[in-house]
Amino acid sequence: MAVRIVPVTTLDPAPEAAALAEQWNDVLVASTVATMGDDHDAWSLASRRARESSTSWDHRYFAAVDEGDRLDGGDGVGGVDGGAGHGTVVAAAELVLPRRDNLTLALLDLAVRPDHRRRGTGTLVLDHLVRLAQEAGRTTLLTETAYPSGGSNPGEAFLRTHGFEVGQTMQRNDLDVRSHLPGAVALLDGYAIETSTDDTLDEWLEDRAHLSRRMSTDAPVGDLDLAEEDWDADRVREQRDATRRSNRRAVESVARHLGTGRLVAFTQLQVPVAEPVLAYQQDTLVLREHRGHGLGQALKSANLRAARETFPEIATVRTWNAQENGPMIAVNEALGYRTTAVQREWQRRLG
Ligand SMILES: CC(C)(COP(=O)(O)OP(=O)(O)OC[C@H]1O[C@@H](n2cnc3c(N)ncnc32)[C@H](O)[C@@H]1OP(=O)(O)O)[C@@H](O)C(=O)NCCC(=O)NCCS
Repeated sequence: MAVRIVPVTTLDPAPEAAALAEQWNDVLVASTVATMGDDHDAWSLASRRARESSTSWDHRYFAAVDEGDRLDGGDGVGGVDGGAGHGTVVAAAELVLPRRDNLTLALLDLAVRPDHRRRGTGTLVLDHLVRLAQEAGRTTLLTETAYPSGGSNPGEAFLRTHGFEVGQTMQRNDLDVRSHLPGAVALLDGYAIETSTDDTLDEWLEDRAHLSRRMSTDAPVGDLDLAEEDWDADRVREQRDATRRSNRRAVESVARHLGTGRLVAFTQLQVPVAEPVLAYQQDTLVLREHRGHGLGQALKSANLRAARETFPEIATVRTWNAQENGPMIAVNEALGYRTTAVQREWQRRLG
């Protein structure tokens, strides 16, 4: 077996580079389908492309190409870098290096094609990512695994073998909105709820940056070495642009505290425009000093109703919650969410 690791970019429109990027993403999707079935959450190529353009995170993509499967009969030297036509992509990986904060971290994602496992490819690619993370001065590696309720994921044994430990366990929770659409939202004394079905509004950006910063410190992080994130209006704007380029529409609701005029809570849903049947619940935060007034549930209900009015095709809304996040899980259970999968966040500290 002659496996070479080559860089991949989703931003180069040249046919060979684009074909390689497509094969690379196909491996990520095939690997996810093998574990999660058709009800999976693998990123689309459009989302991967939007992520690669980020200025807040350095996204680096890699493919492991088996040159034993060469289609061109070439000499095996240098051919792979030119594109996908010179071998078969047997593994796909992503290394993410935060640029603005959390500079000790490297996040990775690694998948080996299901018919190519237990031949050392995963280890080969992981070693490559670890080397790059170390060269970039990163000291903690983070990654995740998922499996449907009652299932399993071979990644867990692989990660333990390679010195990773569980840092946090999450539930994947689904809401069947056809039978659990929340009722109309009661007006809350002292607060006003505002909703946009067309992404984060410009006039919210400053306050939303503050809320996103607080999201990084106020939501439970288990044993993970996560530090406060550095958000400003430009970063929220960039995130909004990336969502649009991923062919997703954000439906967002915020709570304004009438006494100060400031936004003190937000929640966001993302709807894949081409396939709106499954929508994704993103972050929800109520600032500590405004908790206990029912804002979380009111916001999520208002947002769900607005999303469903704009996209009546939505059948399911999906979210992920840390197992230890009792208050958020209680809000979701009251709305009718049910657990459908387990996700684990893994951490390894480099020596
Ligand atoms: C995890 C994954 C990348 C491993 O790829 P791989 O090429 O099969 O891994 P390797 O052949 O290098 O395995 C190295 C060692 O890990 C352990 N391991 C890997 N898969 C295992 C499994 N299914 N059961 C038990 N141990 C396993 C073994 O110790 C193995 O050594 P051995 O084959 O000599 O016993 C692959 O199963 C995969 O793509 N899984 C889905 C995605 C995922 O979970 N990725 C991990 C998080 S990023």
